[in-house]
Amino acid sequence: MMSLTLQRIPVFTTPLFCRWSSKVFQRHCSRMKMRVSDALASKETGTNVRIQGWVRSVRPQKDNLFLNVNDGSSLQPLQVVAGSHLNTRDLTFGCAVDITGTLEKSPSKKQNVELQAQRIEVVGECNPVDFPFKIKERHSLEYVRQFPHLRCRTNAFSSLLRIRSEASAAIQSFFRDNSYLQIHTPVITSNDCEGAGELFQVKPAGDKNDSDDPNPHFFSVPAYLTVSGQLHLEVMAGAFSAVYTFGPTFRAENSQSRRHLAEFYMVEAEIAFTESLDDLMKDQVDLMLKRKFNIISYTEAIDILKSSSQNFTFSTEWGCDLQTEHEKFLVKHCGNVPVFVINYPYELKPFYARDNQDQPKHTAAAVDLLVPEVGELCGGSLREERLELLSQRLAHAGLKDTYEWYLQLREFGSVPHGGFGMGFERYLLCILGLHNIKDVIPFARFSHSCLL
Ligand code: 4AD
Repeated sequence: MMSLTLQRIPVFTTPLFCRWSSKVFQRHCSRMKMRVSDALASKETGTNVRIQGWVRSVRPQKDNLFLNVNDGSSLQPLQVVAGSHLNTRDLTFGCAVDITGTLEKSPSKKQNVELQAQRIEVVGECNPVDFPFKIKERHSLEYVRQFPHLRCRTNAFSSLLRIRSEASAAIQSFFRDNSYLQIHTPVITSNDCEGAGELFQVKPAGDKNDSDDPNPHFFSVPAYLTVSGQLHLEVMAGAFSAVYTFGPTFRAENSQSRRHLAEFYMVEAEIAFTESLDDLMKDQVDLMLKRKFNIISYTEAIDILKSSSQNFTFSTEWGCDLQTEHEKFLVKHCGNVPVFVINYPYELKPFYARDNQDQPKHTAAAVDLLVPEVGELCGGSLREERLELLSQRLAHAGLKDTYEWYLQLREFGSVPHGGFGMGFERYLLCILGLHNIKDVIPFARFSHSCLL
């Protein structure tokens, strides 16, 4: 009985056939699937392809419908041409589409190929009235910043992120080509490398803060998000000579300025057998400048600031920390080119900076790189490799026990060494000529803001 009934049902409507045919169709379609960048570069015409992406423009005409579709694989969208019968109400700017058709040579000079669509499916609708970005408007970076979950759909921000990705790859290549070993330094650490107290503490979310617990810390010691991978790199430079790290870095700076983030990416390098700031500066020039620059000492910088007629808000006495206003002035004064400022007051720099043992102005072998518009781009120093001097400095700061392991590095095969760190987002500001650091990071974190 059962088999009789089945025989009367046309075979292509049986569940088995449907499952089989849909699989064949899917396999066929996935074979045709192409990224927009590949379609644009394609030399073959007449091929069947399937494109999935988002509609960047819709131009309905009497007989034809023109769409620009992008899937993020290139800045340039793919032009799709379809008969107007394929136009539907939900085919709007911003919607997600799945299109099959044939790649043909385009009659327009704007592109080599275009997709002649046979099927257009709207996968995800996008109400153009509610969508914060409008089809023909140029939205400012400031405006799109309000939509951290959507701004990657704009041309401007998606281009920025693409450049960010390329710059990141270029930095990795630079280090690899120059025989540096990449080290993944820890994100969670028990040290405050910079000693500036700008640490985020790491605790389990449900921590009860039980005062009776003899060891309340998850890691048995207080733990923090890293402010710099430098000390871990110093460990590794003692075995691999030239090492680098490139990762997220955290500073609890209560600042909403255009150049500070609470979470940013830092590129750090550490090089053993380095005896002079000149060598360190050369590495920085090779990595990112390759253009004219100046070198001045901190003492010269203070003299320049003092002799200027400009009124500064902050102190310009020898021993003061250079503020943004000072940095900007110095860069302008030196001809608006990058400026290395070297040999800072000993007391201004963290415990690891090498003592120059000079008088009467006591300085450390530290170097900051200041660049036009951005200010400080890099900070680095020679490290104190002499056990006696480092031990005294740590004892003076009450940190000798904390940094017992760091002192041991000076006991066992210590060598002169040095390194530097560069803020990746500040680097991007510099090469792109942009002003706000929040525009060059996918998801900006700063005081009073941790969206998404
Ligand atoms: O000058 P800094 O504090 O140097 C260090 O952390 C060293 N331990 C690096 C080393 O020698 N390995 O920071 C280095 C750079 C700064 O010059 C700046 O570009 C960037 O990191 N930076 C920030 N970028 C964005 N937001 C912040 N809050 C930043 N703080 C520092």
